[in-house]
Amino acid sequence: MFNTGLTNRKIKCFIFVILFFGISMIAFINIQTSKDIVCNFFLRTISNTNQSQWRKNRLVIVPAVHNEIDWHKPTTWPQWLRDGLDLFNNSLSRPYDVYLYQRLDPYSKSPFNWPYCKNVHEEAGVYLKFIYDFYYDLPDKMLFVHAKPQQHSLYPIEAAQCIRDDVYYASVNNIWFGKRPWIAANPDPIDNITLMYKCAKRILSFFGIDGEAQLNPTDLKQKDMSIYSTMCCAQFYVRKERIHHYTYEQWSAAYNASLEPYCTSPLDRERPGLPGVKSFGSSFEFLWHIILGLEAPDMPEPRAKTTSDLCHLFRSSCFGSLCNAMVNGIRRSSA
Ligand SMILES: *[C@@H]1O[C@H](CO)[C@@H](O)[C@H](O)[C@H]1NC(C)=O
Ligand SMILES: *[C@@H]1O[C@H](CO)[C@@H](O)[C@H](O)[C@H]1NC(C)=O
Ligand SMILES: *[C@@H]1O[C@H](CO)[C@@H](O)[C@H](O)[C@H]1NC(C)=O
Ligand SMILES: *[C@@H]1O[C@H](CO)[C@@H](O)[C@H](O)[C@H]1NC(C)=O
Repeated sequence: MFNTGLTNRKIKCFIFVILFFGISMIAFINIQTSKDIVCNFFLRTISNTNQSQWRKNRLVIVPAVHNEIDWHKPTTWPQWLRDGLDLFNNSLSRPYDVYLYQRLDPYSKSPFNWPYCKNVHEEAGVYLKFIYDFYYDLPDKMLFVHAKPQQHSLYPIEAAQCIRDDVYYASVNNIWFGKRPWIAANPDPIDNITLMYKCAKRILSFFGIDGEAQLNPTDLKQKDMSIYSTMCCAQFYVRKERIHHYTYEQWSAAYNASLEPYCTSPLDRERPGLPGVKSFGSSFEFLWHIILGLEAPDMPEPRAKTTSDLCHLFRSSCFGSLCNAMVNGIRRSSA
């Protein structure tokens, strides 16, 4: 045993010496070449990590889909969805790409072999996950939509393709939610303030916004009687620069909170996928125009020939532009 050990050590030592001298010789003789190889390797690594996985200037649609489509039968998926997926359409010149999450199988086994996003907080859960996943490599332009985008708008997919290049955030919906108080069915028994208002305040704090000052600018005593007005239902176009208006830490704080079982109190605990309290998702729905649009909570109602005219955001002759909605009249919905 002792002898064998000694022999093995001798052999190892011999190989080591040969290798050491071999590598040193190559390095010394070819010092310039070696340097080039090493430099090129690092340069390539750096430029590769820099390269975006998205096509330049291509709109990327991120839909919040749960079981609104038959995952087993992709051929039955709606046309707008199939048009943006390589699975169906690998035309390089297609007008948009779709990034599809599934919310059913954490292991992404077939037929759910798409990236997984937990089924929490309706669409907000997906939107936050996408921003969290891709913060450092976002597409130039994004459209966040529900699984049935046409429910809230005439032509949401087309509208997003009509948005002017100087616009960083725009709703693609044409339903107006005007002058709604935050007050909702479920108050916190400790202070009688609606949990949705409290959740909204907490969400704004992740982005460095003073929720009280922002949501209740006139200092109403009953805080949750303060008002918001906005286009309905959280379907919007946004450019990456506007998402980068906030830091990765700020978005991760919001994303992390989306994974917690409740927003402010066990009373607003959500049962994912089931009916019931939805403070987090509902609050976000009425905060996107503040966070990403940098608008006041109580936005002015769109009016022709004023700066609130939606036509400022769209190329007017483009099919799907909400300029037409201005002509036809925005649909109003009261609380
Ligand atoms: C690569 O990334 C760095 C740091 O984010 C950035 O300054 C630089 O402009 C990028 N280069 C290219 C070619 O995108
Ligand atoms: C791909 O999508 C574009 C845009 O919707 C459409 O015009 C085109 O016909 C599609 N191509 C195929 C092969 O489905
Ligand atoms: C909450 O409102 C109810 C009904 O208006 C009232 O009876 C109760 O005293 C209030 N509680 C607090 C803590 O203000
Ligand atoms: C979010 O959660 C991750 C994982 O628990 C943690 O590492 C990170 O610090 C959290 N970020 C923020 C901003 O809270």
